[in-house]
Amino acid sequence: MSTYSASPFASKTFGVTFANLTKKFGDTTVLHNVSLEVKPGEIFCLMGPSGSGKSVLIKHLAGLELPTSGTAHIGEFNASDPATRQQVHLALVFQAGALFNSLTVFDNLALYLREHRLGTENEIRERVMHTLSILSLEDSAKKFPSELSGGMKKRVAIARALVMQPQLLIYDEPTSELDPVMSATISEIIATLREQTAVTSLVVTHDRNLALSIADRIAIIMDGRIHATGTPEEFRKPTDQVIAEFLWPVIDINNPRFKKTIGKSHE
Ligand SMILES: Nc1ncnc2c1ncn2[C@@H]1O[C@H](COP(=O)(O)OP(=O)(O)OP(=O)(O)O)[C@@H](O)[C@H]1O
Ligand SMILES: [Mg+2]
Repeated sequence: MSTYSASPFASKTFGVTFANLTKKFGDTTVLHNVSLEVKPGEIFCLMGPSGSGKSVLIKHLAGLELPTSGTAHIGEFNASDPATRQQVHLALVFQAGALFNSLTVFDNLALYLREHRLGTENEIRERVMHTLSILSLEDSAKKFPSELSGGMKKRVAIARALVMQPQLLIYDEPTSELDPVMSATISEIIATLREQTAVTSLVVTHDRNLALSIADRIAIIMDGRIHATGTPEEFRKPTDQVIAEFLWPVIDINNPRFKKTIGKSHE
């Protein structure tokens, strides 16, 4: 039986559960007892300051990090078990795109399908072109990454994730370094893909506009601890001072933060 399908959309999707996950590097604890559930089909945004542990947390889902204690599950599968990689199609859209510069856009997408022998060359061509068309990238198939703008590279990175028929889609900073309109476009793409495929989408982001516009739920992680979880509505006018300062920082040139930081370092 052929597993070939031109459609990049998988027929099922998985939720994610972190249960009391603690991660230490040497003596340093970077994740403290993190418990979090992402429901199947949700767009879940994970926000938090730089260094708070977002990337380390999602790496557990791809088996790139192992918990010191606690667990990470994708559906019923333990993400730390190498066999899970055979059971779940997980696609990670990396911050910098991680495209192969020596390959065209077409070949960047075809690479995974060819390596895993997922179809004949004609079938692969059909699936790649179909996937590119979903993101309005057909005209860029023959281009190399160096010929693309930052926004197009991000779209190609998403297309490359999609071609794997993901059952779980994880984005790490999908709108970083983009202008506000291109960021909005990427947000619309993430939301549209979820509409069309119902794929669980876990989005690590600093982009308040993205999170408040398209997330079903948001979690804020601070210093390796889940500080709060809620709906965009609940975060729009936060009563919690820490969340308010993180999401809606006021620029005050009479009392600047960097001076407070400099002051502290001399204490
Ligand atoms: N392999 C590692 N060995 C030791 N420490 C690490 C390792 N990977 C990450 N860390 C540390 O874990 C902490 C969390 O890092 P992480 O990359 O998850 O932050 P982040 O929330 O993704 O930040 P950013 O928003 O800047 O991407 C940081 O203090 C980082 O230095
Ligand atoms: Mg990170």
